[in-house]
Amino acid sequence: MKLLVINGPNINMLGIREPGIYGKNTYADLLTLLEQTAKDAVIQIDHFQSNHEGAIVDTIQAAYGVYDGIVINPAAYTHTSVAILDALKAVSIPAVEVHISDVDSREPFRQISYAGLYCEKTIKGQGIDGYRQAICYLQEKYG
Ligand code: DQA
Repeated sequence: MKLLVINGPNINMLGIREPGIYGKNTYADLLTLLEQTAKDAVIQIDHFQSNHEGAIVDTIQAAYGVYDGIVINPAAYTHTSVAILDALKAVSIPAVEVHISDVDSREPFRQISYAGLYCEKTIKGQGIDGYRQAICYLQEKYG
């Protein structure tokens, strides 16, 4: 099984960025968690992070026919990007949405998720462990 983990803008700033909201784990810690999860589950996990909406759309399109599942944290584009939603619909790959923080208890503008309209599950407020949970879900269902 091959999964792709996609992270949107400012996720590369984890650990530095608003630690009271996103925690002290760094982006490097997240990559280590992905590596360990891939080892434990005996699956291939690739990862991609970009601060650019179009690059995320390009990466979702390129996943077609290559990956069995996508774990996506579109970050701020969660709340704005119809383009990312349409790309997910276009490739029709099973996807799970992850948010490190509990977006439900934050500002009203974070209550809308466009990608979430496609994703079959959303994991929020679990810190970086949410990525592991999303991977386990996809592996159990599609692996
Ligand atoms: C986030 C929540 C978003 O509202 C925010 O813009 C992010 C990160 C999260 O992981 O909690 O950048 O997706």
